[in-house]
Amino acid sequence: MDKLIINGPARLQGRIRVSQSKNAYLPLLAAVLLSDRPVHFSNLPELNDIRTMLKLLRNLGVQIDLAGAHATLSAAQITSWEATYDLVKTMRASILVLGPLLARFKKATVSLPGGCAIGTRPIDIHLQNLELMGAKIELHAGHVEASTAGLRGAHLKLSFPSVGATENLLMAAAGAQGITVIENAALEPEIDDLAHFMQALGVKIEGIGTACLTIQGRDLTTSGNFQEVTYQAISDRIEAATYLMAALATKSHLVIENVDPAHLTCVLDFLQKMKAQLVIRPAAKEIEVLPSNLVGTSLETSPYPGFPTDLQAQLMALALTAEGLSVIQENIFENRFMHIAELRRLGANIELKGNIAIVHGPSVLNGAPVMCTDLRASAALVIAALAAQGTTEIQRIYHLDRGYEHLARKLAAVGASIERVS
Ligand code: UD1
Repeated sequence: MDKLIINGPARLQGRIRVSQSKNAYLPLLAAVLLSDRPVHFSNLPELNDIRTMLKLLRNLGVQIDLAGAHATLSAAQITSWEATYDLVKTMRASILVLGPLLARFKKATVSLPGGCAIGTRPIDIHLQNLELMGAKIELHAGHVEASTAGLRGAHLKLSFPSVGATENLLMAAAGAQGITVIENAALEPEIDDLAHFMQALGVKIEGIGTACLTIQGRDLTTSGNFQEVTYQAISDRIEAATYLMAALATKSHLVIENVDPAHLTCVLDFLQKMKAQLVIRPAAKEIEVLPSNLVGTSLETSPYPGFPTDLQAQLMALALTAEGLSVIQENIFENRFMHIAELRRLGANIELKGNIAIVHGPSVLNGAPVMCTDLRASAALVIAALAAQGTTEIQRIYHLDRGYEHLARKLAAVGASIERVS
């Protein structure tokens, strides 16, 4: 199994380019199922989660032509309506095919995602609201079996602004008869991106960027409903912030390219409160990080526009290099502190009290063998290893391969001593 060998402390320098967003592309790929016309995507990141979604779509009968980072997909001929356990268990976002399959084909079977390292992650909000739209849902032998005589528009109020549920319901609503209103919709930029893509296909959506989305549905069972579309997802705000934090943790001077600072407003405000010196250039889509002496602070994760849970682990690694206490509260997932035990192996002084971590900074970090537990925890280990003195060996990096495109190559190009070995 591949591992990363990092020799620290690193001093990064130069420019690092962020890829397009995995979490935006996963729902966009699922949304291809709504249309019988070809869709062209550019700059698809080379990531295992993207490969898994492409495999899932291929299994359903979607024609996929890949040319480097460009892909043309056509869901004109669907031959299966089932997302099988072997794919769903490796990637929970497989559940995103449920809404579009129901909308266009009136049936779908998706293996029930189990829990994962960071929490139990139920899908009750997806299912309850699809039922309100006229779906019949049965849980049978570990599968969600969904069918409908035809989805109907409905007034939905989500009990929590779940990202995946908002995406699934948005796609389902495109094929429902009449108007669907989704109240308390998630506000993440990836939702806006999906809505913009669906608009490009020809779906009428109002309220994009707000917590209340209104979708005009139409019959998708007949052909020629939508247009052929060329689209590129937004850039990856989580990857961008991860590199930003890596630069800050190593007191480096680094320019992050292909980033939309508007998607990181809360994070950038927060880092500036920690006394990070950042030059933010929205027009150029770049952020320049200057060597900074950070101070600790307090934060809690919350749905967008709050501080993202997907950056909590990386921020904790950064807080280890800041002066003073940092108090970090995780509110989205119940078990998203697996990185603490691994960070402690590097010398981190972190107390854990329920869903609150108290970081005593600066901690003296020394290289050690550590293990990835989930995607973002792995990124935290990379940041800590870059800041630590000596050699860190990071095992189980298949977690990183799910969501960070060419991470080792990109960091090595800006001066890190980082090597991937088998
Ligand atoms: C998406 C992101 C993930 C990120 C998360 C929160 C993708 C592919 N993944 O995941 O990286 O960490 O948003 O920003 O975009 N919940 C329920 N019932 C439901 C659905 C969710 O209780 O039906 C709970 C979850 O268990 C979790 C919280 O709501 O505690 C947030 O989940 P959700 O917003 O749905 O996250 P995902 O879409 O799974």
